[in-house]
Amino acid sequence: MYAPIWAWSNWASYRILLIVFLVSPLRGGWRRLGPFICHSSLVLPFLEFISVPVPNPIPMAYLRMNPQPVKTSNSLFNLLPKRSSLRPARVRCSSSSSPTRHYAITLLPGDGIGPEVVSVAKKVLQRAGSVEGIHFDFQEMPMGGAALDLTGVPLPKETLEAARSSDAVLLGAIGGYKWDKNEKHVKPETGLLQLREGLKVFANLRPASVLPQLVDASTLKKEVAEGVDLMVVRELTGGIYFGKPRGFSTNDNGEEIGFNTEVYASHEIDRIARVAFETARKRRGKLCSVDKANVLEASMLWRRRVTEIALEYPDIELTHMYVDNASMQLVRFPKQFDVIVTNNIFGDILSDEASMITGSIGMLPSASLGENGPGLFEPIHGSAPDIAGQDKANPLATILSAAMLLKYGLGEQDAAERIETAVLNTLDRGFRTGDIYSDGNIMVGCTEMGEQVLRAVDSEAVAVSR
Ligand code: IPM
Ligand code: MG
Repeated sequence: MYAPIWAWSNWASYRILLIVFLVSPLRGGWRRLGPFICHSSLVLPFLEFISVPVPNPIPMAYLRMNPQPVKTSNSLFNLLPKRSSLRPARVRCSSSSSPTRHYAITLLPGDGIGPEVVSVAKKVLQRAGSVEGIHFDFQEMPMGGAALDLTGVPLPKETLEAARSSDAVLLGAIGGYKWDKNEKHVKPETGLLQLREGLKVFANLRPASVLPQLVDASTLKKEVAEGVDLMVVRELTGGIYFGKPRGFSTNDNGEEIGFNTEVYASHEIDRIARVAFETARKRRGKLCSVDKANVLEASMLWRRRVTEIALEYPDIELTHMYVDNASMQLVRFPKQFDVIVTNNIFGDILSDEASMITGSIGMLPSASLGENGPGLFEPIHGSAPDIAGQDKANPLATILSAAMLLKYGLGEQDAAERIETAVLNTLDRGFRTGDIYSDGNIMVGCTEMGEQVLRAVDSEAVAVSR
């Protein structure tokens, strides 16, 4: 349905598109078309110029953030290139000049360390919001094992409804020993997949950057890890996680078998590829598509479609890599990567691997976006039941997920940047949770780390005290 519109890439077509856009009263229709129209950096300034209030499809907000390619590197938050998060801190207060914006946020603390890290991130959101003129209405809902204990299902329909009707969703983590042996339909993980499916968030952005402050925390040699700055774009609502047929059965020998299906339709590959190309355009212009096209048909189609979509992005350097090689290259020479696009299961695996380059999985946030509707923001770490309730968890991945929520979910870049800068400032002042601790720093727990980030949010100019 969208293909012909997307394929229009000549000037005359843009003009027709623009005229149709101006006369169309069908805002609902345009909401769906918005992301596709705006793939072009030619159209973006046009839309800005005529000030048509474009509704709020998420990739639209995402694409609008910076239509120009930016070639800078070595920033944790390269998708926000207007101002570098690594620049000197400063105090800013926009609340006096602009009216307060209101947003409804669904909080899904979940299990294990989830509630601890979400409660810290909530405070950080509130504080950054109050400085930047934003008011949040938070609604906390059960999810995962917590929901199982309460209601018998891992994603109660009230939780999904609340998430759907809010502006953005912040999730902690789900799962734990207690539910490990549950049947599939009553596993906490099943609730997470239902949530992703229910919100239709097909694009999962997982940045992995080595911060200068944490280079010693990496398990790789300093010269390998230093300067790594990559983004995994993981397809999130398709592939083997959702493919049918699936299940348990018996084979001809009467032996029990378990089976799943890796399946991708062209449109699923095309849309994630476009997100990845757009992401590369905002970064260093390099995209590596990871597949297993030497063996799997679904990967063969994947490679063919990505190669086809590349024709729309002549400015992006596209390479293809088999997943086994990619997993090796990630630890051999990770600096070669800018953006990696891959399917659901390879993205799951490679993003965990990439996180270790940066020192700790406790640092990595993620954003899951759909064509419209609220985005889902979550740290990529799990529920860590072994340290749950001990105030040992690193809340930074969730705090940074809250920053992604502001940036990609709400388009509140100043507030997002305030949080990112506060995190860097807190690290600069030497505060470390156990997972990122190295000699000479100050070991703190989850709550204290949160307090230090809050302090830095209040005044981004908190002095480096070491
Ligand atoms: C992740 C997790 C989930 C996934 C699990 C908890 C279902 O590992 O978000 O990476 O496999 O997607
Ligand atoms: Mg995972």
